[in-house]
Amino acid sequence: MCGITGYIGEGESASILSTGLKNLEYRGYDSAGIALVGDQVDVHKQEGTIDGLTIPRDVDATHGIGHTRWSTHGEPTDENAHPHTDCRGDVAVVHNGIISNYTELKEELAGHIFESETDTEVIPHLIENEIARGADLRAAVTRVLDHLEGSFAIAATHVDHDGIVAARQDSPLVIGHGDDGMYLGSDVTAFVEYTRQVSYLEDGDVAHLSEDGITIFNDGKRVEREIQTVDWDASAAGKAGHDHYMHKEIHEQPHALRQAISGRIDELSGKASLDIDLDDEFLESIDNIQIVACGTSYHAGLYAKELIEPLVDVTVRVDLASEYEVYDGYDTQNTLVVAVTQSGETADTLSAIRRAKAPGMTTLAVTNTVGSTITREVDDSLFIKAGPEIGVAATKTFVSQVTALALFATYIGRLRGTLSADEGADILENIRKLPNAVQSVLDAEPQIERLAERYVDSDAFFFIGRGLAQPVALESALKLKEISYAHAEGFAAGELKHGPLALVTENTPVLAFLNESASPDETFNNVKEVESRGAPVICLSSTSEDASFCDHSIDVPNLGRLGPLVSNVAMQLFAYHVANEMERPIDKPRNLAKSVTVE
Ligand code: AGP
Repeated sequence: MCGITGYIGEGESASILSTGLKNLEYRGYDSAGIALVGDQVDVHKQEGTIDGLTIPRDVDATHGIGHTRWSTHGEPTDENAHPHTDCRGDVAVVHNGIISNYTELKEELAGHIFESETDTEVIPHLIENEIARGADLRAAVTRVLDHLEGSFAIAATHVDHDGIVAARQDSPLVIGHGDDGMYLGSDVTAFVEYTRQVSYLEDGDVAHLSEDGITIFNDGKRVEREIQTVDWDASAAGKAGHDHYMHKEIHEQPHALRQAISGRIDELSGKASLDIDLDDEFLESIDNIQIVACGTSYHAGLYAKELIEPLVDVTVRVDLASEYEVYDGYDTQNTLVVAVTQSGETADTLSAIRRAKAPGMTTLAVTNTVGSTITREVDDSLFIKAGPEIGVAATKTFVSQVTALALFATYIGRLRGTLSADEGADILENIRKLPNAVQSVLDAEPQIERLAERYVDSDAFFFIGRGLAQPVALESALKLKEISYAHAEGFAAGELKHGPLALVTENTPVLAFLNESASPDETFNNVKEVESRGAPVICLSSTSEDASFCDHSIDVPNLGRLGPLVSNVAMQLFAYHVANEMERPIDKPRNLAKSVTVE
């Protein structure tokens, strides 16, 4: 994905746009650029992060657009950086998404001068043609949209036309309504310093931000989009004294969990109360739950399966969203499809939800992002309330996703009578204890940091666990590999002897989850197997007995089914400190972006 910013108003455009780009950098950091529009269109762009971009402060601009790029078509070079312009340099365009028919469009634009390898560059040239035919900027963009195939959010300006025209199709765009002007962003983070009054554009919207305000059209008709107030301020998006967003977000977890839990627990009755509208009768009737998600959210889905199946008499299937298919003969009436997605913008997950909706299945999103695309497409949303997560590596949102899904499992278990009041109360008590349990692991950071320093030069890292701890093993390995680039794998502990054991040497630490709810005795046998091959073993356990058999042991409170989730927090810190020792760009790992809005 990429990040788009825009501003028109009395403020200093260059400074507002560069703040926006800095805030959106987590969406992509291959290149950055802005176009400032006054008497002329001034484009400044280059490969690399926004820090390397020199933006003159003395340009007399009334408005402008900016972009931070995660490359899809064309390498990260100065030429491929956005904004892109037309032949005369009058039109400037930034774009997020993919124009799938750009090759044909480029052929139709024979005679135009192209300077990049991007799909985006066809857009300013198409606008140039429409303006030459007499259209104003809004009409030109509207006509161009008819030619574009794919998913996109775009913002365009023209030297002789007032304001910015923005359009969305399957890619997010948010308008900010400030006292001193109008803001545009791929998400609220772009302008949260300046205003918290926002409206979310919908697919097909074409918005004209001008000195007089905003007008929005959809399918040729004027439409209004509700103005909402976002409930977090600029400080929530800052680093608050931490070296990295990821470190800050790891430490925010007790607070994030309190927000996820607040008002949702009634221990006395053993019931969770969820602010969702799905019909209880429907939830009582379902036979299947299908979870679709990607990456870390997929691991949260795997954890949820282990929570839901024993508590509720439904079958839970978890699919990588990119692999999800609905086959003929599937029981579509008695199935709930749950999309787990932090951003609510992941293209693979959105596409899976659309496939599920086609034959009429009921859909629920478990997401962090109010107003995101997925919330507008599903039947209902369960918000995890983790607050903004900027680090590319998902941390607090994983823990909050699993917690929200644990509440959901308790809710439907009690509703269907498969979970007794006592069992429900037990689970809810553990959920209530989660924030403090997570804090106790955060307090062990110095020990975890020492372990990271000791093993940073290892050949590879293996994480093993069973049951509830297996998704945590997968998640721990993903976290370590994405921010440190070290080779890391998560395995079902029992599978080691069926192949992966061949990889184990004295230079491959094995991190074993011995939580009481995750078959610790059986996993302990696997610890013995790797120890006898010379591998150093780091155990995560709540019993001091285990500690004496492992090379190192990290103490994790026993929290029943949620114990492995607490262990995961220790592994977030381990990954963070390994990556920090290696001096990796932790918040912006190479080749990655926070949410992936292309399939
Ligand atoms: C994990 O650290 C990554 N950020 C990534 O795997 C992420 O979880 C995945 O891309 C899904 O994103 P989503 O939750 O926003 O849908």
